[in-house]
Amino acid sequence: MFTHRALADADIPQICGFPRDRLELYYLFPRASWPLTPEQIRESLDIRRDPTVILQGDAVVGYANFATFEEGRSASLGNVSVAPSARGTGVAKHILQVMMDRAFARHGLPELVLRCFNTNTPALVLYGKLGFVPVALEERTTPWGERIALFTLRMERDVWERRHREAVAA
Ligand SMILES: CC(C)(COP(=O)(O)OP(=O)(O)OC[C@H]1O[C@@H](n2cnc3c(N)ncnc32)[C@H](O)[C@@H]1OP(=O)(O)O)[C@@H](O)C(=O)NCCC(=O)NCCS
Repeated sequence: MFTHRALADADIPQICGFPRDRLELYYLFPRASWPLTPEQIRESLDIRRDPTVILQGDAVVGYANFATFEEGRSASLGNVSVAPSARGTGVAKHILQVMMDRAFARHGLPELVLRCFNTNTPALVLYGKLGFVPVALEERTTPWGERIALFTLRMERDVWERRHREAVAA
């Protein structure tokens, strides 16, 4: 149902429409300012790795990348986002599978981490279902002055391998 490929410059304006409001933009790209613009995404690509889009037919419906990447040690997943019209159909689950395969099977990393705010229920439920576990909790302040908690969640390679084997066997 879904395919994926590397981000192309022509995809960027569509990705700008993924966050529905400033709270969602803060969840997926905390350093960006509302509204998300193509320039902010293009600038972020200087330091991000493996920017990847998910397609449904020809339509770009999902996006993610590695926000940080340390060869042989760790990567953090960033900018996980889904087009509002495609939510609830498994796009994020597909993005996560693609990026986990890349982190563990292609890059051979021992762990993959990501950061997620405590009020972001859909994302926390998604990550928990896939086997990510919270390992740290810090306080942050939103750009509009509210206190918020930021979880770090981690997937270890052996957990991914076990789940991957089970999925292939099923
Ligand atoms: C969070 C987000 C990426 C989920 O994308 P999605 O494509 O709708 O998610 P999926 O359809 O793949 O759902 C996968 C699982 O996530 C969980 N989930 C998704 N939406 C949910 C919701 N509204 N409430 C609770 N759980 C939800 C469910 O466990 C779901 O599995 P199920 O369908 O078997 O119940 C999407 O809502 C989004 O882009 N939000 C704005 C940006 C953002 O918050 N990014 C994450 C930054 S950490």
